[in-house]
Amino acid sequence: MSSSAPGPATADGEELLPAPSSLDQVKGWFFAVDQLLFDWFLTRQNSMAEPGDVLEMGAYMGKSAIFTGSYLRPGERYTVCDLFDAPAEDFANHAEMTKSYSTLTRRAFEANYLSFHDELPVVLQGLSSMVPDHVRSDSCRFVHVDASHLYEHVHGDIGTARSVLKPYGVVVLDDFRAEHCPGVAAAAWQAVTSGGLHILCITGTKLYGTWGDPSPVREELKAWLESRDDLWHGVESVAGETLIRISGKKAKYPAQPPSRHPAPVAAPKPEPAPAPVPAAKKAAASSRPPLRRFAANVLPPFITKAALSATKRRD
Ligand SMILES: C[S@@+](CC[C@H](N)C(=O)[O-])C[C@H]1O[C@@H](n2cnc3c(N)ncnc32)[C@H](O)[C@@H]1O
Repeated sequence: MSSSAPGPATADGEELLPAPSSLDQVKGWFFAVDQLLFDWFLTRQNSMAEPGDVLEMGAYMGKSAIFTGSYLRPGERYTVCDLFDAPAEDFANHAEMTKSYSTLTRRAFEANYLSFHDELPVVLQGLSSMVPDHVRSDSCRFVHVDASHLYEHVHGDIGTARSVLKPYGVVVLDDFRAEHCPGVAAAAWQAVTSGGLHILCITGTKLYGTWGDPSPVREELKAWLESRDDLWHGVESVAGETLIRISGKKAKYPAQPPSRHPAPVAAPKPEPAPAPVPAAKKAAASSRPPLRRFAANVLPPFITKAALSATKRRD
């Protein structure tokens, strides 16, 4: 039983694969404020020479995966895990897949990803509970948890993130305060109140945290936020945790990964059609002898008059 409906097809039934010319054209949910924060955390890790692999659970069509893949350094492994068009195992997860991701295929993800990168990440197709069998403990610097939004799955994925992250690693939990998925909120706050997770910051959709020492990175983040006029932030204390709350309604997108597909060139505008000539005028014009017609159509009036009287004289 597959959870996905067939995608668009050509006349001979072949699957039409996407060829996006910009990240904007890749379907998904990855807003400007979170792109800015991914950029900030990953660039900071790169500049501090904090090595490590990267993991995403829940890739959908690849929007956040494509963006994240641009920050990998040589030798680092990028793993993405998604069910894609494989069946979910429990009823609730199956219902979630059918409702929200019914046109998803692995081939569409891969075509999107390869529009921006030369190589695919390591792709694990199946339940995110398989990740610990494929990603080593203490090997990652950045983990994005964005697969199932049901409590049991998210709780498991947070546990996986904790075990694969290095001490300085950063975890990002998607939709931790969205109206439609209270299970993510429950799993996220449980990790904070009894699982040792420290919150670094929150946006409208994502929570950024670490199981390492949060203070240095939080202070640097605060300083960076103070320099931005497109991001509002405030510092709050929640359940004994200091966190930075960020509002990114006016956030400006960071540099986007370039696509190998050129943007479609806008077709030239067609010349406006000549105004229709009333039928009576048309008939009169075509009954005139050739010189009269030429003169009437092309020459300025005073030359027309002279030419016509010369013709008359000759007649
Ligand atoms: C919200 S989407 C991911 C969005 C993506 N990160 C982006 O930014 O566009 C959630 C994805 O999780 C996948 N998914 C749902 N349940 C899953 C599970 N139990 N294990 C692995 N992947 C799952 C779905 O197939 C879907 O592609």
